[in-house]
Amino acid sequence: VSATAILAAAGSGERLGADAPKAFVELAGRPMLEWSLAAIEAARSIEEVIVTMPPNGTTGTVPSVPGATTVAGGPSRSESVANALARVETELVLVHDAARPLVTPELFDAIVAELEADPEAAGVIAATPVVDTTKEVLRDREVHRTLDRSSLWSIQTPQGFRTEALRAALDSTELLALASDDAMLVERMGGRVLVHEASPENLKVTTPLDLRVATELLRGRSGS
Ligand code: CTP
Ligand code: MG
Repeated sequence: VSATAILAAAGSGERLGADAPKAFVELAGRPMLEWSLAAIEAARSIEEVIVTMPPNGTTGTVPSVPGATTVAGGPSRSESVANALARVETELVLVHDAARPLVTPELFDAIVAELEADPEAAGVIAATPVVDTTKEVLRDREVHRTLDRSSLWSIQTPQGFRTEALRAALDSTELLALASDDAMLVERMGGRVLVHEASPENLKVTTPLDLRVATELLRGRSGS
């Protein structure tokens, strides 16, 4: 079974506040998306990569992406993913955010292996157990309730799917602009989605603090 990776890189990175789109911000010596591209290239189970790109005219320069197919992003993350999905021809697809540069080839391969091993699964998604006590809070800051942490997971990417399941989920929804991940849409269609425990190191770069942490971790990896 072969798999295609979609690398979501079309966001502007408002919360990071850099002068280029987030995926193209320099991180430990290369544009952020190149860290994920290198992991995808090294993953044995992935044969093709499609990158969703920021619209032309975004502030800063957007370098070309050698060896990858590129498609224009959409106004929301899910719309960007839908644009890329239209080009996917393999049975399995993995969606990964360029904002997670610490991903490893092994994580992609493990998710593909789990999808292959469980034909009933529509999706397998990277996740890590929640470590903080987590409460639901009302608008006026009053605590409504404390959630049972033992059943809570923080969800990451990559998220792997049977391509037809993701296609059906993205085709049939008005929620596209609201979904914060792809699995949510598959879950709503009744698809069986499993978590795959990943490292908390696979963090998402959202704010300048995250960029500092990611820089530190990536420098440590390359031994420089
Ligand atoms: N993304 C995308 N298309 C969009 C919005 C986001 O491909 N229209 C991608 C981003 O490039 C990122 C991933 O989805 O790799 C996760 O989104 P997020 O971390 O929210 O990135 P941004 O939307 O760029 O950041 P912000 O929300 O702070 O503007
Ligand atoms: Mg965003």
